[in-house]
Amino acid sequence: MTIMDGKTLANEIQKDIAKEVLNLSKEGIIPSLAVILVGSDPASQTYVNMKSKACKNVGITSILHEMPDNISQKDLIAMIENLNNNINIDGILIQLPLPSHINTNAILEAVLPNKDVDGFHTKNSGKLHSGICGFVPATPLGIMSLLAHYDICVKGKDVVIIGASNIVGKPLGALMLNAGATISICHIHTKDIASYTKRADIICVAVGKPNLITKDMVKQGVVIMDIGINRLPNGKIVGDVDFENVAPICSFITPVPGGVGPMTIASLLQNTIKSAKSRLQNLV
Ligand code: GUN
Repeated sequence: MTIMDGKTLANEIQKDIAKEVLNLSKEGIIPSLAVILVGSDPASQTYVNMKSKACKNVGITSILHEMPDNISQKDLIAMIENLNNNINIDGILIQLPLPSHINTNAILEAVLPNKDVDGFHTKNSGKLHSGICGFVPATPLGIMSLLAHYDICVKGKDVVIIGASNIVGKPLGALMLNAGATISICHIHTKDIASYTKRADIICVAVGKPNLITKDMVKQGVVIMDIGINRLPNGKIVGDVDFENVAPICSFITPVPGGVGPMTIASLLQNTIKSAKSRLQNLV
């Protein structure tokens, strides 16, 4: 059994990105990411801080726009349009979730598709589903990079994804399908999740429920990508898998923390560099 070290791979990716930032700066491009945080959700604040810190590490300029909980949808869209028109900004990230009075889809659609480094605009999700190059959401992209790093081929494999969100489950399903996997996406209405997981070659779980995946639900040699991040009452951070009992059965498994999480951030940085490079291309 191999524990997949997302932290080390993410650090290696960050080193490569730092070199790319240096090269871009020689061409007069300072890669820049605008991050919009609405309200004061502690988890969102933590994620945004981690993203800003990673940007700083590699030399990407990140500008945080902290907006009050009661900001209107109109004002938020006006702000996004300002950033769309700012030629020095390569990426715009709106941290989710947004407050309930705001229509999330309308906000995500307001981001210029070529600055949509989160890959949430329908133009980018449409490209992904059609197998055309665009921006791919960071968590699914990080998962594919981690699998590739460990030479795990998904072609022809039975892949079960648990969780059908627009952020993880659906785009991950599209990536896996494009790579030749046979996919099943389980969700809240799935009748018998174990009947899917028991025959899976690869399980990707993104639900947010500790110990959702237990040893009786998986076959010997399975690969497990644990995308859950849960804080237990004792403060410990765990994923969605009963790691202690399931890990010995796996061929590969990601730990939480230190697995998919750092890869998500590395992939966001990669997307920002991709956008900065296309800005350079449009200049020359
Ligand atoms: N909230 C949870 N995951 C994400 C993510 O990947 N991007 C953004 N913008 N918000 C999130």
